[in-house]
Amino acid sequence: MKRAYDALPESMKNMEMYGFHWMEFVVQIPSPLYIITSYKSNGLTNACMQSWTTFTGGKNGFYAIVASVSKYGHLYQTLHETGEAVINFMSAEFYDKCMATIRHNGFDDDEIALAGLTAVKADRVHAPMIGECFINLECRVKWEKEIAAGDDSVLMCLQVVKAHIDERHLDENDLGRTGKTGILYNIHHPIDPERFSGAAHDYLGVIEKIRDYAEY
Ligand SMILES: Cc1cc2nc3c(=O)[nH]c(=O)nc-3n(C[C@H](O)[C@H](O)[C@H](O)COP(=O)(O)O)c2cc1C
Repeated sequence: MKRAYDALPESMKNMEMYGFHWMEFVVQIPSPLYIITSYKSNGLTNACMQSWTTFTGGKNGFYAIVASVSKYGHLYQTLHETGEAVINFMSAEFYDKCMATIRHNGFDDDEIALAGLTAVKADRVHAPMIGECFINLECRVKWEKEIAAGDDSVLMCLQVVKAHIDERHLDENDLGRTGKTGILYNIHHPIDPERFSGAAHDYLGVIEKIRDYAEY
């Protein structure tokens, strides 16, 4: 039997949702987790953990559709100032260091160095890449839009102009891009809306290949 929801379930009425919509916790669809880097106007590095993004492309380019950039953070500010950033995918090994950038989020912080990570010069954009991350996507802002008028965040489209990938992760028989050594996913607290209690806590995950499409 399926349950259907179009209004906030009773058990979630007092849940702290940190600005998210209640339905996100009910359907709980994971999205990739990465850290996006740019330069602040004082020349210091900015780093922002980011999720809620999809990637798509066609004959005119490859794009990151970044669904929720807070209007109040440094990332939004730097993207407006420089129009450029790098999307860096970390493996689980570097998750803690990347998270440390949240503790070093001051305007006068060199966020990449203070987190114990290495800033590497990008080739095509004015933004730092994180050396320890196994994929770095050099990006330029194409456009932005509020999903609903007055939102606290905006949806931004970034065009990927150059991709760097660690060769051990290019090899699917070595570290690969999926599985335990691959791209990380942000998983919202998978709650049961019929009986939620306590506090929401999210999870870090990876994805696993289960079958080859060619087997049909
Ligand atoms: C798992 C995770 C996912 C996050 N996703 C986003 C996101 O999609 N959008 C956003 O604006 N902040 C997101 N954040 C919060 C920012 O990383 C955090 O507020 C950061 O310090 C802001 O940096 P900034 O001031 O340089 O923009 C996320 C944090 C975590 C831990």
